[in-house]
Amino acid sequence: MTAGRFLTLEGGEGVGKSTQARALVAALEGRGIHAVLTREPGGSEGAEAIRALLMQGDVRRWSAHAEALLFAAARADHVERTIRPLVDAGSWVICDRFVDSTRAYQGAQGIDDAAILALHAFGSRGVLPDRTLLLTLPGGEGDARAWARDGDAADRFAARGREFHRSVARTFDRIATAEPDRVRRVDASGELTVVTARLIGAIADLLP
Ligand SMILES: Nc1ncnc2c1ncn2[C@@H]1O[C@H](COP(=O)(O)OP(=O)(O)OP(=O)(O)O)[C@@H](O)[C@H]1O
Ligand SMILES: [Mg+2]
Repeated sequence: MTAGRFLTLEGGEGVGKSTQARALVAALEGRGIHAVLTREPGGSEGAEAIRALLMQGDVRRWSAHAEALLFAAARADHVERTIRPLVDAGSWVICDRFVDSTRAYQGAQGIDDAAILALHAFGSRGVLPDRTLLLTLPGGEGDARAWARDGDAADRFAARGREFHRSVARTFDRIATAEPDRVRRVDASGELTVVTARLIGAIADLLP
């Protein structure tokens, strides 16, 4: 049995995280690795209930501080009930968004990065992925993909403005620069299979 691993996919709206998370699970399974797909917010029963509170309703439904607490609570449940047991049992867990998204999105609303990390330390014992794959696309291309997918049905986060999304992209970039061992930038442009091959390349050192 190979050691379990915890991988996350991060990046702005529409870059292909959910598409590539599925493809990565399939690619790993094809190599004989037991891989499980999960997502944030959500991924456990309690966290999915919190997800419904977070994703629906008016853009201003929650204050930024309340929202940061809800994300931290959802993540704590997800880590304890889903991620940690699977990794301990030897599975690879592929998570669509994780704490870096909170740092990027709640950070763009003025929540201090140190406060988010403190909540993560308390709620989720500070657990970090073995590798975070940051999908990048030139500005606007992710928006175009998300727009083609959702049209007017965009969720509360997608509905925010251009400056908000610029701030999100800057924070992801800053995290990748600060934590080069954990975070790898992956070009998300081009065919689906080409992007998946780049992702596999970015975890090559972790593969059995
Ligand atoms: N390599 C690709 N080339 C073209 N279109 C793609 C590619 N990858 C994904 N798409 C399409 O772009 C759209 C957005 O992809 P996806 O939903 O995977 O993005 P996401 O990063 O999960 O977005 P969100 O942040 O909104 O959850 C989907 O319609 C998907 O089919
Ligand atoms: Mg998605």
